[in-house]
Amino acid sequence: MDSLFTYRKIDEKIISLLRSAIGDGNVSSDDEKLISFSHDEVPSSSYKGHYKAEALVFPESSNHVSEIMKIASENRIPVTPRGAGTGLSGGALPAFGGIVMSFEKMNRIIELDEKNLTVTVEPGVVTSEISKLAARHDLLYAGDPCSGDASFIGGNIAENAGGNKVIKYGATGAQVLALEVVLADGTVTWFGGKRRKDVTGLDFTHLIAGSEGILAIITKAVLKLLPLPRHSVDLLAAFPDPETAIAFVPQIIKKGGIIPASIEFMDKKALELVEKYLNNPVPASDAGAALIIQLEENDHDVLERQYEKIGALSKEHGASEVYVADTRSTKDRIWQTRKAIPEATSFFYDRYTKEDLVVPIDRVPDLLAKIKEVCLERNLQWVAYGHAGDGNMHCTVIGPDTEDWHEILLIVQKKIYSAVIEMGGTLSGEHGIGFKRKGFMKLFLDKKHLELIKSVKLAFDPGNILNPGKIVDWNE
Ligand code: LAC
Ligand code: ZN
Repeated sequence: MDSLFTYRKIDEKIISLLRSAIGDGNVSSDDEKLISFSHDEVPSSSYKGHYKAEALVFPESSNHVSEIMKIASENRIPVTPRGAGTGLSGGALPAFGGIVMSFEKMNRIIELDEKNLTVTVEPGVVTSEISKLAARHDLLYAGDPCSGDASFIGGNIAENAGGNKVIKYGATGAQVLALEVVLADGTVTWFGGKRRKDVTGLDFTHLIAGSEGILAIITKAVLKLLPLPRHSVDLLAAFPDPETAIAFVPQIIKKGGIIPASIEFMDKKALELVEKYLNNPVPASDAGAALIIQLEENDHDVLERQYEKIGALSKEHGASEVYVADTRSTKDRIWQTRKAIPEATSFFYDRYTKEDLVVPIDRVPDLLAKIKEVCLERNLQWVAYGHAGDGNMHCTVIGPDTEDWHEILLIVQKKIYSAVIEMGGTLSGEHGIGFKRKGFMKLFLDKKHLELIKSVKLAFDPGNILNPGKIVDWNE
């Protein structure tokens, strides 16, 4: 076991090998830079240890990535691929030091193919740039993580990022048709193609999507494009309590006869917290809970009939008020409220755990009730919000102001997790396991499942140099 995690330290010789392979300007060992590239958006206070890369590399091409991996595999140096650092599970944290590989220089949109309705990109493209380009061609790139204005597409794919439109379009992985990857030994290869169907062999494309950088490094991606919906409207429905709000979610689809682009949930505390953070009134802030329901259509009259129907259904199912946002500014106001929740939490608190739990939709009220119960037991505060259409809740439990806050949060997490397992739920829906959650994997997956993950990892990366220390705990 130990030899799997025994690595060579980076010395001047390795730095000069890297410099001559990819150019002096693409390698850095500047200490300040090493620190700023050694974490993601998980607060560093969440971990007891400190983690720092020994060298940063900024490849400009697949060939550069390949050359770096040849040096890393020949010398047993760990390599942690990194997008924009917006991850929420410590995926980009260099758990064993070594090289952090940033994709900020591989940021080209290579091709938009209107005949095959695909876009081919490098991993360092900011996700919203892909959506903007597609929209200029009347097309939609449907991957839509909340971090889309900052995150890189490579990171979205590696984490199979979700976001607000998964209920209608699927997560990032569902948009991926093909990937060019560099394997641990430096081999460059493709999985998938510009094909809408493919059962030729195992589906490595979608194994790599969501594999958090432990199997291969993504160097190009072919993504599918869809028609761009011409009109959209956002409804904000205020409910007296979370139970009534959540019970309405399946009815939107069943009785409404449509799949909305988004169904998002915010609890009372989330609404209050954002109002305090923005220092501005937010819609429905006096409600017990709220849903955002986004509808899209090409025909404006059809859209109007739809939102009138969903608005009336909301009232029938207990909504006290339904706000309709059909202008840029009213829509922005609603989404600003939803999107500011994580920011507001980290503004007011630095000791917290942001969860990414998923349960069957009908168990969301049970999950919220459980969180309330365990937090009240310990006199802790919490905020709950998330992707109601997917049963994916970001419950954020705020740690107490005491020295033992890590331990307290751990006890709370374990209580919540055992309830989630009983409900048929799971640990992460879109943020990934990374470094932050790997210690809990054994609660959610059985021994055989964990062994298979390790076997697959070693089949791709026998030397265990690609993003080691993530997803599974090898000591267990
Ligand atoms: C969100 C991020 C935290 O849904 O996933 O706001
Ligand atoms: Zn989310």
